[in-house]
Amino acid sequence: MALKITVIGTGYLGATHAAAMAELGFEVLGLDVVPEKIDMLRRGEVPMYEPGLEELLRRHVAGIEGSTGRLRFTMDWAEVGEFGDIHFVCVNTPQRHGEYACDMSYVDSAIASLAPHLTGPALVVGKSTVPVGSADRLAAYLAEHAPAGEDAELAWNPEFLREGFAVQDTLHPDRVVVGVRSERAEKLLREVYATPVAEGTPFVVTDFPTAELVKTSANSFLATKISFINAMAELCEATGGDVAKLAEAIGYDDRIGAKFLRAGIGFGGGCLPKDIRAFMARAGELGADQALTFLREIDSINMRQRGRMVELTRQALGGGAFLGKRVAVLGATFKPDSDDVRDSPALNVAGQIHLQGGQVTVYDPKGMDNARRIFPTLGYADSATAAVRGADVVLHLTEWREFRELDPAALGEVAAQRLILDGRNALDAEVWRRAGWRYRAMGRPTA
Ligand code: UDX
Repeated sequence: MALKITVIGTGYLGATHAAAMAELGFEVLGLDVVPEKIDMLRRGEVPMYEPGLEELLRRHVAGIEGSTGRLRFTMDWAEVGEFGDIHFVCVNTPQRHGEYACDMSYVDSAIASLAPHLTGPALVVGKSTVPVGSADRLAAYLAEHAPAGEDAELAWNPEFLREGFAVQDTLHPDRVVVGVRSERAEKLLREVYATPVAEGTPFVVTDFPTAELVKTSANSFLATKISFINAMAELCEATGGDVAKLAEAIGYDDRIGAKFLRAGIGFGGGCLPKDIRAFMARAGELGADQALTFLREIDSINMRQRGRMVELTRQALGGGAFLGKRVAVLGATFKPDSDDVRDSPALNVAGQIHLQGGQVTVYDPKGMDNARRIFPTLGYADSATAAVRGADVVLHLTEWREFRELDPAALGEVAAQRLILDGRNALDAEVWRRAGWRYRAMGRPTA
């Protein structure tokens, strides 16, 4: 009989995982504690913008016409306990307020709510990004509190999905990593991931701490690559070099690789910034803080890019105060193809200029509602053209395809000055210059 799977937490990770598990053919029950989320999901709607997710969901949510009916949602822990052979814990682990460490309260309370309902054999699989050592602690908790005792086992299976590619990354992951303590747990997880593994996805079996560390070290490595190239951008600016050419040239070395070497205003979002901070905090608790002091520098290079963008804008406008300057900001989300504005470098730059007296008008294809909610005092326009109308300078801060496809000549007609600063090194400088724009970018010669 096919395995029955539950997914606890239906945010980015959980909603995508639940839909993907249904796509792979399993019966799936998703749980969340927020009634509005459950109502939306039951209608086949997702509470965020993620390409392809709504379609995937609608293909499987029970009650939707033409669906397989394999995916249902509940708020009832007893139902979850009774239903599942495998329970995936997909709740979030945000940064603790005013601290580097991550907040484990959602994971802890999910396990505490589930445990009393585990009366028979079950595998609980953690997917959330947690401080190393958490799996050990949670396994001990389950053994003590689940009526099934040792039969309620834990495994750790970190998730590497990227926003904007969540569906693709979940159905066709680069690798599956499982931290297990028994053959039974490994066998069950091999069954879950049989389809991607048959398609060639590597399946890495390891212990708890390694599985937990794979996730935080992968994110630290990615953050390091970005901050490295941004540090090189600073050197290029100091010397007249071109960071885009530099990245291209070093990227041809297979050992380095060309990806994640786009210089600009740096990384943001709900993962990389908080994960490297939580990793440092955990290393401190373990007495290994010296091993990760470099991450402090990675974080500070990253945060510095936002201020550097503000200064670049000031210089391009001739120096002095922003008062009375009209600044068009293209992009509010932390990356394209997402409506997520958490720790968004774009919104941070827009906010700094606004707080220094600039008259800022923001446009983003999908992030407007979220941006307005967290930064209501900024100006907003409902198209790129409307944002640019009358602007003294245009800042390109999130590299949406829509912005790459803009017609610089037409925009030049509505802007007060043809001055564009590319905070993502993603526009074609020559095309803009030919249309009469002064084009500037971080780490590039001014020409
Ligand atoms: C990241 C990891 O990639 C993913 O594996 C993990 O599961 C969650 O965290 P995500 O937060 O969706 O995913 O974004 P990602 O695509 O990694 O980009 C992070 C940030 O880095 C974005 O703000 C992006 O604009 C920035 N970035 C990325 C750069 O500044 N330069 C680059 O070359 C690449």
